[in-house]
Amino acid sequence: MKRFYIETFGCQMNAHDSEKVIGTLVGRGYEQVATPEAAELIMYNTCSIRDKAEQKVFARLQDFKRHHAGKTFAVLGCVAQQEGEKIFEKAPHVSMVVGSASYNKLPELLVQIERGDKRVTGLSLDTDDTFETPLTRRDNPHKAYITIIEGCDKSCAYCVVPFTRGPERSRTLESVLNEARELIRMGYSEIQLLGQNVNSFRDPAIPGSALGHDFAYLLRRIGELPGLRRVRFTTSHPRDFVKDIVDAIDENPVLCNHIHLPVQSGSTTMLERMQRLYSREEYLRCIEWMHRAKREIAITTDLIVGFPGETEAEFEDTMTLLDEARYESMFIFKYSRRPNTPALRYEDHITEEEKTRRFLILQEKQRAMQIRQNAELLGRVEEVLVEGWNSATSQWIGKTSQNRTLNFVHPAGREANLLGQYAMARVTRTGPSSMGGEAALEPAV
Ligand code: SAH
Ligand code: SF4
Ligand code: F3S
Repeated sequence: MKRFYIETFGCQMNAHDSEKVIGTLVGRGYEQVATPEAAELIMYNTCSIRDKAEQKVFARLQDFKRHHAGKTFAVLGCVAQQEGEKIFEKAPHVSMVVGSASYNKLPELLVQIERGDKRVTGLSLDTDDTFETPLTRRDNPHKAYITIIEGCDKSCAYCVVPFTRGPERSRTLESVLNEARELIRMGYSEIQLLGQNVNSFRDPAIPGSALGHDFAYLLRRIGELPGLRRVRFTTSHPRDFVKDIVDAIDENPVLCNHIHLPVQSGSTTMLERMQRLYSREEYLRCIEWMHRAKREIAITTDLIVGFPGETEAEFEDTMTLLDEARYESMFIFKYSRRPNTPALRYEDHITEEEKTRRFLILQEKQRAMQIRQNAELLGRVEEVLVEGWNSATSQWIGKTSQNRTLNFVHPAGREANLLGQYAMARVTRTGPSSMGGEAALEPAV
């Protein structure tokens, strides 16, 4: 059994975990294949953030039970951690269940699988370890993820992550910098720092309160590495977000002027019930730091509609927050009940119809704002990292520092060979979510 197939669900942390898992397997002599049919070992790296995400995995396991009898199945990630050995009852053909906090044990667990063990688990959350491996197999040749902090110590009332990813643990600054240097040496020009809450990064190699060795310091240190063009990071938590992060971005154009700062709700009473640890006013203070920055910072967010007990007035507070924050874009989610979470005990659940109604109202308001805001970008010249070629429209696909998509035509078309390069493009058309443009030969102003 040496060929494996892996399918990944969920967030960027999971996507990057899969890159490390793939590296670990390849390092042991396995070969990755593109279809489950061609594999002997089938792995799902799962997400449990909402019920729908979790259901996908069980649907896959049901299908493959019929089509792939005799193969070895492994369930990794957040559903693995959440459901644990119960997965063996629900899907008896699964042989391996491993949560992300146990990936350091993967080599041992694989030995057990190879010798034919039928119930292999890695489910302990009691760890100070982070999963570091030199074997990471990265998919994208231009952008690379680096995990700087794992787990989460918050306890937002709706969220499974503290149960699925365990306690917060930072990597050392030195190991993060070394990985970044190695990536630059390999030719990567964009790095994205990952964590459920990057703002609470503290260098564990520095004893005591680690004053000064925080996330803003890490950003400054990474930003000064020669050869790097762009540094992004996600996700920021408003409670731990400090103005120094905005100052670091102002000081160094290598640090991308985009911040994802999930708000969840614009109502202080709702935020209290969500156990988010900040008020509307405190959140808006973070927004003000960004609005006042020297560089123009694009702000994006996550919102939950229909959290238990959400009143019309609380929903209205979220609507008005949109006007004040002026988001570049947002993800809106309908509240989904999750196992183990405090909100399960809350009463006053909102009906699905009402959640949908609020979802659509918010979505429409934001769409109208995006059309207006984006129209102001007409005529601008932006630097983009060229990430692809769209043959249907004969356009290059670019991303600006603010993480906007700017698709543009070039006089030489595909022959321009821009993939992975930085190019200047002028915005000639805007819409609600992406922009169109043309290659600009003069430099940006
Ligand atoms: N650590 C990050 C991301 C958490 S998951 C943060 O704190 O922001 C990504 C998003 O999923 C969250 O921001 C939230 O908007 C949404 N989410 C999490 N749990 C949810 C649930 N039970 N129902 C609906 N949306 C949820
Ligand atoms: Fe979940 Fe809250 Fe932690 Fe984000 S900060 S991962 S929403 S518990
Ligand atoms: Fe999903 Fe786990 Fe990420 S629940 S969103 S894969 S942390």
